[in-house]
Amino acid sequence: MNTEEMYLSLKEKLNGIVPDIELRYKAELAVEINRLKEEKNAVILGHNYMEPVLFHSVTDIKGDSLELSRKAAITEKDIIVFCGVKFMAETAKILNPTKTVLIPSLAGCSLAASITAADVIALKKKYPGVPVVTYVNTYADVKAESDICCTSGNAVAVVESFESETIIFLPDEYLARNVAIETGKHIIFPSLERIPSTAETELDVQIIGWLGRCEVHEKYTVEDIANVRLEYPEVLILAHPECSPEVVAASDFSGSTSAMIKYIKQTSAPRYLLLTECSMADNVAAENPDKSMLRMCSVRCPHMNQITMENTLDSLKYNQHIIEIPEDIRVRAYNAVERMLRIG
Ligand code: 13P
Ligand code: SF4
Repeated sequence: MNTEEMYLSLKEKLNGIVPDIELRYKAELAVEINRLKEEKNAVILGHNYMEPVLFHSVTDIKGDSLELSRKAAITEKDIIVFCGVKFMAETAKILNPTKTVLIPSLAGCSLAASITAADVIALKKKYPGVPVVTYVNTYADVKAESDICCTSGNAVAVVESFESETIIFLPDEYLARNVAIETGKHIIFPSLERIPSTAETELDVQIIGWLGRCEVHEKYTVEDIANVRLEYPEVLILAHPECSPEVVAASDFSGSTSAMIKYIKQTSAPRYLLLTECSMADNVAAENPDKSMLRMCSVRCPHMNQITMENTLDSLKYNQHIIEIPEDIRVRAYNAVERMLRIG
């Protein structure tokens, strides 16, 4: 595809969503990225939060954390360029270690930063024998200390796979609270509450949580929802499970980023509001021109927004930034991620 063809195809998809001048400028970058991608036998994975032009012009595989992990595990290309945040690129390397995994910018995540491997080791010492379920929004050394990982797309299934056992669920406080509500389990946060006796642990406490938060999703409030409903009474509101349980309860649907996208495709409301990173609303609007999307773009993920067309091009040009994980950590992290993938 030449630049003019790329511009026209982007215009067809993103007209009215992205200014024309931006489409023209980025069409040129997209052509160069796709040319290099071919030349280097690379695949570009793009999380649902990527900005609309990048998302629609250069990504070969799009999806939520779970879908991208599955695809990263089986790609046969030599290079995986991960347009997402660092913990996601690490998961790709954990699952497919012989490939070169690149991330255009070493983008962080407030959840991944909220917990260290030493924290997990200390918790395991405090609660010996209690299995550790870790959200994929963590770094490889934290995953390596865990029994199994989960994503927002399978957290309930993973927790339920432990039947009646007590589990440690790390590090997202709100995801843990939402999973506890869905599974009817009692949750404690050791640093907030007195430590229960052994008998109480066995009888009462089924989830031991951690006080990590997503700096984006924690910002949405029940008041925001009430205000939107006042102005648009017919709106359908979708909240990511990293939002507080109060926000999830006040919404009409909660699920992973891809579950929200699917829900919008399958329903026909006059308007939708996504309580998640704002770029996703642009991507959904592009895929569903018949749907009307409201935006609350004051809340953005500064980490996901670090990934741009420019640094994606540089990533391919200069082989940067290479994701490396010490093999002993990778192998232990692999066990936790692979056990999750087996749950489905
Ligand atoms: P998903 O797994 O739902 O795509 O979410 C990842 C994420 O970082 C949400 O903030
Ligand atoms: Fe992390 Fe939240 Fe950004 Fe997702 S939206 S990458 S959880 S900070």
